[in-house]
Amino acid sequence: MAVQTEVLKAGSSAPPGTLEPTALCHFVLRTLPENFEKMVNWYVDFTGGRLSYYSSSIAMIAYDEEHHRIGIVPRKDAVPRPTDGRPIVGLGHVAFGYENLDALATLYEQKRNAGLQPVWSINHGPTTSIYWRDPDGNEVETQVDNFDTVAETIEFMEGPEFRENPIGVEFDPEDFVKRVRRGGEQHAIKKRANIGPRTTK
Ligand SMILES: [Fe+2]
Repeated sequence: MAVQTEVLKAGSSAPPGTLEPTALCHFVLRTLPENFEKMVNWYVDFTGGRLSYYSSSIAMIAYDEEHHRIGIVPRKDAVPRPTDGRPIVGLGHVAFGYENLDALATLYEQKRNAGLQPVWSINHGPTTSIYWRDPDGNEVETQVDNFDTVAETIEFMEGPEFRENPIGVEFDPEDFVKRVRRGGEQHAIKKRANIGPRTTK
């Protein structure tokens, strides 16, 4: 199956009538048995969640109305992540969304106070995002939408600023928290600075 256009571009889509899922329900991570408990605890704590199922072969974590959003599976035959920092083929990261900048600031403070340090804090343009790593090195993004509507987000993504810089502009999370706590205007804090082209992380 392929999109209808010969040359892929934003807006390319599947053939009309192709069934769409109704939700992105959960993700499952494999881990080595020695990291199983550490990974389970990390995701329960990170999401403020609970174990809806737990056995020696799988843990399921819920944090909202769904019965589980995250699964952790210990596999002794799993291939460990390379230790030299090279990216692996497959899932890049998962992103959890938060209500507003106050919530993202609170999340940052809670994680920092729990001893976690973010690996990347960046205003992508469409989102204000803080990235973390779980005990296995998987990246987890925590984000707030910068625009009030999807239409405005798409408009930004189709515009010249995003074409010039589709990655974003980094920020210091401590400065971010101070700005938010000072009660700055939310749209002003969310607005991405214009720093010109950049192409790499
Ligand atoms: Fe993302």
